Amino acid sequence: MEGTQGKILSEEEKQEDEAKAAVGIWKYVFGFVGMAVVKCAIELGIAEALEEHGGGPMTLADLSSAVGCRPASVFRIMRFLVHRRIFKQTAQGSPAYYQTSLSRCLLKQGASSMAAFVLWEGSRQALEPWHNLSGRVRDEDASAFEAAHGKDVWRYAAENPGHSKLINEAMACDARVAVAAIVSGFPEVFDGVGSVVDVGGGDGTALRLLVKAFPWIRGISFDLPHVTSVAPDCDRVKHVGGNMFEKVPNADAAVLMWVLHDWGDDECVQVLQKCREAIPGGKGKVIIVEAVIGEKKEDDELEDVRLMLDMVMMAHTGKGKERTLEEWKHLIMESGFSRFTVNPLHAVQSVIVLYP
Ligand SMILES: C[S@@+](CC[C@H](N)C(=O)[O-])C[C@H]1O[C@@H](n2cnc3c(N)ncnc32)[C@H](O)[C@@H]1O
Repeated sequence: MEGTQGKILSEEEKQEDEAKAAVGIWKYVFGFVGMAVVKCAIELGIAEALEEHGGGPMTLADLSSAVGCRPASVFRIMRFLVHRRIFKQTAQGSPAYYQTSLSRCLLKQGASSMAAFVLWEGSRQALEPWHNLSGRVRDEDASAFEAAHGKDVWRYAAENPGHSKLINEAMACDARVAVAAIVSGFPEVFDGVGSVVDVGGGDGTALRLLVKAFPWIRGISFDLPHVTSVAPDCDRVKHVGGNMFEKVPNADAAVLMWVLHDWGDDECVQVLQKCREAIPGGKGKVIIVEAVIGEKKEDDELEDVRLMLDMVMMAHTGKGKERTLEEWKHLIMESGFSRFTVNPLHAVQSVIVLYP
């Protein structure tokens, strides 16, 4: 028998390998449980209850009463979440719980909140297409999201305002993380940039944070009308509704954050060409904020996130995907840009800067 590196295993190594497999497979048998229990904790407001209690420690009785549930059930949920190191528990006596950096990500508000992202990915609507992933792999034209809902994710959102809100809030969670990484890791990309159009800018969270960090910038958050019509107002950010396949508003720089990965190559070239038309020929740039698969070492923990995201694109979009550097290069050259740079961030995404 061969091991993972193609090496012939000794009898002892083979037994060890099989023992590891017998444990490892449970991760997949019950893979959904982690997400489901975290979603349950968000819905119950466990992190909020602890936060209002100064971050803990908070006894089981107090926590159960704050979230309005029976202590026996809260105990089991918390035992699981403590085991996963999401919350912490006092070492001795009857259990009392406290917050960690990870549990603060379950708060519905705040800079590190990822609650809306969990609620969207864990919603019935987002989970349903996963049941048809194999159908999508067998037939590249069979979108799993459309098979489940009869329309693509953006049309579904346009017709279901509650879900549109949840998607926008979910995207805002990542926007907060990605913008913070740009501001700390690659701020010079906005040097000399007076105006920015954020194409597919969602509810404007990314631009709101960018104009705060770079006060000389005026922003246009550009998205489909059903998104911009309900986006919150913000100083120096104008919301403009439209279709990026038709026209993109003019600005010194066009940002495309987590937009191109929703689309196939032909659509990406169309959008990139519209962005190129929107920026000035000399000093303009297009700033893509997306994952670059295989960019970092394989033991980089975020590479696993990038590969999961690629699976999400397969389940939720028609032809969308995460791209390697070679694939990005192909798209950029096809769209007529003269040169580009790739700038890794401490984030799932990198910043790819395109010059006309
Ligand atoms: C994955 S979200 C990314 C949102 C935001 N850039 C972020 O990272 O938080 C993709 C966005 O593209 C928008 N979008 C989809 N089709 C579009 C189109 N034809 N024109 C403009 N925006 C579009 C969606 O409404 C959605 O807000």
